[in-house]
Amino acid sequence: MNGIKSPPPLPDSLVARLSRSVETRLGLHFPPERWADLVRGVRAAAPELGFDDVQQCAEWLVGAKAQPRQIDLLAAHLTVGETYFFREPKAFEALEMHVLPEIVHEPQRSGARRLRIWSAGCCTGEEAYSIAIAVTRAVPKWREWQISILGTDLNPRFLHKAAEGIYSQWSFRGLPAEIQRDYFHQTDNGRRFAIAPWIKTLVTFACLNFVEDVYPSLGNSTNAMDVIFCRNVVMYFAREQARRVVGNLHRALVHGGWLFASATEASPELFANFTAANFPGTVVYRKNLPPPRLDLPAPAVPLEVSHTLVSSTSSSAASSSELLAPSLPEAAAPAPSAKARTLANEGRLGEALAACDQAIALHKLDAASHYLRGMILQEQGALDEAAASLKRALFLDQDFVVAHFALGNLMQRRGRATDAKRSFENARALLRRCPAEAGLPESDGISAGRLLAILDATREANR
Ligand SMILES: C[S@@+](CC[C@H](N)C(=O)[O-])C[C@H]1O[C@@H](n2cnc3c(N)ncnc32)[C@H](O)[C@@H]1O
Repeated sequence: MNGIKSPPPLPDSLVARLSRSVETRLGLHFPPERWADLVRGVRAAAPELGFDDVQQCAEWLVGAKAQPRQIDLLAAHLTVGETYFFREPKAFEALEMHVLPEIVHEPQRSGARRLRIWSAGCCTGEEAYSIAIAVTRAVPKWREWQISILGTDLNPRFLHKAAEGIYSQWSFRGLPAEIQRDYFHQTDNGRRFAIAPWIKTLVTFACLNFVEDVYPSLGNSTNAMDVIFCRNVVMYFAREQARRVVGNLHRALVHGGWLFASATEASPELFANFTAANFPGTVVYRKNLPPPRLDLPAPAVPLEVSHTLVSSTSSSAASSSELLAPSLPEAAAPAPSAKARTLANEGRLGEALAACDQAIALHKLDAASHYLRGMILQEQGALDEAAASLKRALFLDQDFVVAHFALGNLMQRRGRATDAKRSFENARALLRRCPAEAGLPESDGISAGRLLAILDATREANR
């Protein structure tokens, strides 16, 4: 006997409910054969969640009382943090040799030098930085492009490490030595390696839970992506959650955009909306291009109406002029601000900005339109103008939480840490006054509690 007592087990019925609750809030699937991992994670999270007793902690989690911030804490103990630079090298070869060159030469880009890539489920950042390195190698004159590489994860600790950008030799396993030499410098007396600053500036990190958060959304810059990497993430999800995540990622891509999944996740059913493109040693999923527009002359009488005429002449007492008038309500043109949002989500930024300006011309004091203008300008890389629009939105409505948040992100991107902190604090102060479940205007459905958790996670990541 070594005297170490194993902790008492939790009742199966409680673990079963815990597993369902974790699946609902985090998407993570823990079948009975992985219940030991689930209990181990909760046991590790319990002290941080304020519990001495694991059973009490599990019962509290099942009772759905946990706030988003606490769910993130739990996630930190349940998620798998396995990753390294240029993992699955064939995928990076396809990115560098085929996908990026094709994007650079796309005729529909009509000269717009803008590239948006998302490492979704980025863990500690190795994948996002590998993408950034590949971009600098594959895009000629990449400094003249507006490049945005977004890394998201739900685990704030992983994001903290990602934002720091310092790694041990273990993260470079299998990587050719010259990449490590050219894109990193030694730190900690040669024990660790820091990513080169010129690569680091291409990447931003943010907290996002695939199950509870809203995406694609202009608000968190998850819209109009040219390329998404989402690898070794949905394999831990229940089928239905995985399908929902892949569906949202499909909507987050521009037409013709590319999705990289890992070889273990390849499932024709999951990626049925994509076209599989085969490259040496790997498959990449492509969102279809829209069908070419056929500029046919409009029919003299809408087809629906002519059908009404045929079927109703014998029985109806209506006059022929009434019959000829379409019985369908005329489709209302979308409001300019709604049109601007749709166009921006599709990445058609020039048209989106024009629609937004039209909306502002009609309603000069509409804070939401100025906010939208700021977000579009930010995506276009016009950061000063974007900041001016966001400030105008806040001048018109100082309680506009999402605009404070957006201005904070923008200031952070421009390296103005004090201004960023002030905007985030403004958002935080307003959010503390809202019920956690309250919806926020212009947030695409994000709740006050969730945005507060994201702000906390962002603060932790950048500490
Ligand atoms: C195994 S790592 C994959 C890292 C990287 N994509 C790769 O392939 O090397 C899985 C990542 O997914 C994240 N994750 C798990 N569930 C998530 C969720 N519901 N929302 C966002 N990220 C999640 C985990 O925190 C973890 O960092």
